[in-house]
Amino acid sequence: MQNNFKRILVTSALPYANGHIHLGHLAGCYIPSDIYTRYQRLQHRDVIHICGSDEHGVAITISADKEKTSPKAIVDKYHEANKETFKKFGIYFDNYSRTSLPIHHETAKEFFLDLLHKGFLLPKEQEQFYDGEANMFLPDRYVEGICPNCNYDKARGDQCDNCGKYYDQLDLKEPKSLITGKTPVVKKTKHWYFTLGSFQKKLEEYVALHSKDWKDNVLQQTRSWLKEGLQDRAVTRDLRWGIPVPIDGVEGKVMYVWFDAVLGYISSTKEWALQQGKPDKWKEYWCDTTTRYIAFLGKDNIVFHTIVFPAELMAKTGYVLPDNVPANEFLNLEGGKFSKSRNNAIYVKDILERYPVDIFRYTLATNLPETKDSDFYWKDFQAKNNNELADIYGNFINRTVTFVAKNFGNKVPVRGILNDRDKDILAYVQTAPQRIGDLIEQFKFRDATMEMMNVARAANKYFNDSEPWKTFKSAPEQCGTTLNICLNIVRSLAVLFSPVVPFSSDKIWKLLNQSDTIGNEPWLKAGEPQLPEGLALGQSEILFTKIEDETIEKELGLLGVSAEIKADEKAAANKYIPLKALITYDDFAKIDFRTAKIVEAEAVPKSKKLLKLQIDLGFEKRQIVAGIAEKITPEQLIGKTIIVVANLAPAKLMGVESNGMLLATSADGENFALLTSSKDVETGIGIK
Ligand code: 2FM
Ligand code: ZN
Repeated sequence: MQNNFKRILVTSALPYANGHIHLGHLAGCYIPSDIYTRYQRLQHRDVIHICGSDEHGVAITISADKEKTSPKAIVDKYHEANKETFKKFGIYFDNYSRTSLPIHHETAKEFFLDLLHKGFLLPKEQEQFYDGEANMFLPDRYVEGICPNCNYDKARGDQCDNCGKYYDQLDLKEPKSLITGKTPVVKKTKHWYFTLGSFQKKLEEYVALHSKDWKDNVLQQTRSWLKEGLQDRAVTRDLRWGIPVPIDGVEGKVMYVWFDAVLGYISSTKEWALQQGKPDKWKEYWCDTTTRYIAFLGKDNIVFHTIVFPAELMAKTGYVLPDNVPANEFLNLEGGKFSKSRNNAIYVKDILERYPVDIFRYTLATNLPETKDSDFYWKDFQAKNNNELADIYGNFINRTVTFVAKNFGNKVPVRGILNDRDKDILAYVQTAPQRIGDLIEQFKFRDATMEMMNVARAANKYFNDSEPWKTFKSAPEQCGTTLNICLNIVRSLAVLFSPVVPFSSDKIWKLLNQSDTIGNEPWLKAGEPQLPEGLALGQSEILFTKIEDETIEKELGLLGVSAEIKADEKAAANKYIPLKALITYDDFAKIDFRTAKIVEAEAVPKSKKLLKLQIDLGFEKRQIVAGIAEKITPEQLIGKTIIVVANLAPAKLMGVESNGMLLATSADGENFALLTSSKDVETGIGIK
């Protein structure tokens, strides 16, 4: 890692302007980049966050055909929509540009011509499908036919969705143009190839230089490309939508979208510099070796940023290369893949109307696909909101400010002599900015967010252990000290949490009557108590409200509609119930699992589901009631050694007392099985 940098350039992948932003986009790229840049600003570092719409390529023209409109209408619509979505979601960019702007076309042309003149772009003749009726060459995604490998009859131009094989377009059997449905002819065309192969060695050195800092998933993909040996790649296409190839006499050809999209980061920075009234300022970020450049993106974009883009920059010379490319894996939805085409997605614009943004920001931040794919489950979303944001963070703030409003005239109480507990919590909070900052610097946003919540957890414990409701009468000075410390921790938490839940932090800031904006806080001082004694506080409000079960059922219902399209995939996914919230070892150790022998079993009268079992725990006999009558007969149970939770509080089921619970799989599903011991063991022994 380069430590002597003077500024940080952060780019986030330019999303295609042909669809709305969904949760998968946020988890893959924009939540991490936003947390990172918000944190760096609090560190008072010179940082800019650059993004924009990717408006070229076949993806756009296909969307235009589908929506029966022009590519221009498509990009205009989605550029505005996505820009607005990011803003409302609190993803802050210093500039959100678009690749259809003249400033971008000029930048891409400059690169293209420079590379051409240096001999890095070479023309090659090749044969390609041509639709005579539509009067155009057919890009791969505009041809369909029979797979040369597996005979699947809806294979795409260069890849089969059935067997996954990549092939040359001309090998496709019985090709059909998707524009006119006609059989295309084969015609010669000329394209320009970027001599990627000539950068093999330099790229290997570049990757080796960063291999200590880059994430495994990024290194793996990059190294596998390098290992195969880099091939020259066509960077022009026969298409009308895009940046025209700037060579005299060449008509109807544009630059390949990936050639120009990555340059969009540079043109967006140029546009930003113009807006600042300092047209040359972009060069400080792109052309000065004291810049640290971090490129955020999702896993499908990795090699374009670790190989293709760096090679373009090396070819042009004088530009900084990405220092790190902390790409995330994919976020799945309720056990299935996010899919725009199957409408199995949660669009950000929709949830913005239904929930406070911060709940999503927090939920996603604690569940980012940083090392492997992760899943978004609505139940998990509810649990994280209810059990963490509301019960831990919100609860601590709420109990602190209501106590102060009620007992201290809504003013910061005086801090008296500190006891050991006071000193411990102050020391813990004081070191939190460093701990959390270190994790963010290493792109471990999940852990950083969990560490933020740990501070709130510790604060709650401090409040409980200090028992201010008792000391208010017995030791009022001590009570004031406790609440002074709690209020200062509220302030610390507002700053520490602000990269993840900025809207809530702003509310807390107002509540604490802080005059300066939270953004001007120095991160490393965030753990220090800074509230003046006697400061009058503002009006408090509940920060996080609980989400009811019905709300979640509704959301699941909405997804169910779209999931019908792939009911089998969904059914397979649903056998995995969502993971519950994390517990500590101490929580786990509270459960007393024991082996027990079933000595009697009979049906509970008038119940279809319940069986009454007498079990032998070795040291005592017990009765338990289990809802398994539809799965197994009493006869099948007698004599079995099972595993029970032996310290479950007694309960009555249909009037019959139950003193424990047996363990079984899938009691509601098809494959019912009792958890038993794999060999004969004593009854009543504990299980760890
Ligand atoms: O995958 C995508 O959505 C691409 N539009 C990302 C481009 S990133 C960069 F090149 F701009
Ligand atoms: Zn195939």
